Amino acid sequence: METATSCNGAPEAGLVAHQSVPVLVLISFVSLFSAFLIYFYAPFWRVRRVPGPPTSFPVGHLHLLAKSGPDVFRAIAKEYGPIFRFHMGRQPLVIVANAELCKEVGIKKFKDIRNRSTPPPTIGSLHQDALFLTRDSTWLAMRNTVIPLYQPARLARLIPVMQSYVDALVANIAGCPDQDCIPFCQLSLRMAIDIIGKTAFGVEFGLSKNSEDSCCGSEAHGGEGDDDVREFLKEYKRSMEFIKMDLSSSLSTILGLFLPCAQTPCRRLLRRVPGTADYKMDENERRLCRRIDAIIASRRRDRAAARRRGGDGDGDAAARSAPLDFIAALLDAMENGSGGGKDFALEDRHVRALAYEHLIAGTKTTAFTLSSVVYLVSCHPRVEEKLLRELDGFAPPRGRAPTADELQSRLPYLDQVIKEAMRFHLVSPLIARQTSESVEIGGYVLPKVTPAVPPPAGELVHVSCCQSAVHSKQTSRR
Ligand code: HEM
Repeated sequence: METATSCNGAPEAGLVAHQSVPVLVLISFVSLFSAFLIYFYAPFWRVRRVPGPPTSFPVGHLHLLAKSGPDVFRAIAKEYGPIFRFHMGRQPLVIVANAELCKEVGIKKFKDIRNRSTPPPTIGSLHQDALFLTRDSTWLAMRNTVIPLYQPARLARLIPVMQSYVDALVANIAGCPDQDCIPFCQLSLRMAIDIIGKTAFGVEFGLSKNSEDSCCGSEAHGGEGDDDVREFLKEYKRSMEFIKMDLSSSLSTILGLFLPCAQTPCRRLLRRVPGTADYKMDENERRLCRRIDAIIASRRRDRAAARRRGGDGDGDAAARSAPLDFIAALLDAMENGSGGGKDFALEDRHVRALAYEHLIAGTKTTAFTLSSVVYLVSCHPRVEEKLLRELDGFAPPRGRAPTADELQSRLPYLDQVIKEAMRFHLVSPLIARQTSESVEIGGYVLPKVTPAVPPPAGELVHVSCCQSAVHSKQTSRR
């Protein structure tokens, strides 16, 4: 009997086991999918009370950004009010879009919203060792090291250098064969890159000077060490192309938008696979690092040579009177012990990253702002007339560049026009910060970001309207 039961039971058990396989697969699939949904919607859940347009799974609101560009923020603010949610894939950003709220985020409650979010574009140490992505006390210490280098007296010494590139821009505009179609954006970008080349790296990039066809040519002409400069600029251009947060980016960046926890392992893997965007990005960054290191070494040699030339007694004075580009100034800070403190010691990797950050942060921003000013003024003849009156009334003696004081105090209308243009056309509409404590903004409580989950895991606050105040106000609020 027993035998018969087991004989009959064996195929039944086999059948049950056979039938349970698809059930197990289904249960595993449903569990995995549910876990993914919980993971995907957790950041949204914590800021669900903040208003915002309906999202599309899995892109959030990225399709709106792709369709309308940064103008989408203005449209959403109109419909949903001055504080709203915007989803970059899985990651909701809480965007504030009115001056009072911006002041709250950027000044009054800044201590709880100090860190920038680690962005989905997976970028390497060249970016991570500079101001934009360092955090907490390290950022503060690094910033305190760098702030003295922006003292008005030091910046004033750079005015003649800048003026020479402005003169080159004016000459290039005048030299354009088609005066009805001047590529101002391109020309002003060249000027900005040249200025940063000289004032941050102490290198002549030669994009706007030495150029016979600077109006039409598209490549670097190079100054000192033509080939090196040309390659450096090519690598810089490539590296800018890699800093993208959209669906045309590298695979690891795209993954970061939907499954941030998988981004770092994916990037580690892909940067070893030739042909992938991550691999190319890594290679490009390595080359850039080597190139900037060579510039730093050369600045060191220049300084040592200047010291030797000055003899024993006057050595330091001679080094100090040498052209004070940003790298030289940072080396100065390193040598005289002012480069850091308890939480931070300035090293070569920081010098490299900080100088490069100037190239990223100070070139397209400047060119875009100038182009936006020129465009908006050209659309408003009355403004143009008033501006020209002010500029014509301000004339430093021939052959002399205006002083910093003159620029500061004698052109109030120009100042207003630039600020209005910056308000009107945002240069960098998506620079997000994370809440490090639970904080109330505009009547909504934004919870503290979940710590130690790479990369962005919590709520971000983006200050979309106070960019014009950044460089002046951040200095004074600590
Ligand atoms: C019109 C031109 C510019 C605009 C509109 C602009 C805009 C901005 C914005 C929006 C931020 C982020 C602020 C934040 O996170 O709260 C920023 C940060 C920064 N910008 Fe600019 N920028 C301009 C020119 C420059 C120039 C010329 C340089 C350097 C030569 C520069 C260097 C930096 C640096 C180093 C930071 C990071 C500051 C920190 O973390 O402490 N910017 N800029």
